Amino acid sequence: MAGDNLRPMKNLVILISGGGSNMAAIADASVRGHWEARLPARVALVVSNRPDAAGLLLAQQRGIATAVIDHRSFTNREAFEQVLAERIEQENPDLVVLAGFMRVLTPAFVQRFEGRLINIHPSLLPAFPGLHTHARAIEAGCRVAGVTVHRVTAELDQGPILGQSVVPVLTGDTPAALAARVLAQEHRLYPQVIHDLLR
Ligand code: GRF
Repeated sequence: MAGDNLRPMKNLVILISGGGSNMAAIADASVRGHWEARLPARVALVVSNRPDAAGLLLAQQRGIATAVIDHRSFTNREAFEQVLAERIEQENPDLVVLAGFMRVLTPAFVQRFEGRLINIHPSLLPAFPGLHTHARAIEAGCRVAGVTVHRVTAELDQGPILGQSVVPVLTGDTPAALAARVLAQEHRLYPQVIHDLLR
């Protein structure tokens, strides 16, 4: 459609460690639907720090370039991040999207991509930063839970909030049931926030 040509295409690099369902939701939002709703971006590269991440296959099935940079083959975090950063920079991305990327990043890495680095966290931040968010929300007796997309800063899960979605916590919820309900919202929220940022 002619309208597509009027919008400059932006580059995304997505970092994953596991299932990659958020990555797939973002990739699908960049190719589907009416052009006005479609993400004005292409996923240039998906990088996993784990060779066995199921998300690699999801990316390849979509024709997206993938790279594995296994953190275990480096002696320290800085050496891993140096190689990771150089690979990301080859794509000149407008946004570096953390989507289930399970490595803590150093302040130097965060600074290198300042203003371009975003993350999704499966809780209503500032509640429940860190791991096991769903179990902790149930344990605390929360009536609602949810998901946050935020800018990445040097402090884990504390950067400025870009978007949130709320889901109910139901009687008898297990962490897995709550996680599935939250994940469905993640798949809606992350493409939306990226769309707004790239506008
Ligand atoms: C998501 O719940 C994300 O918020 C969290 O890890 C999960 C990753 O899921 N950080 P996926 O790899 O996108 O399927």
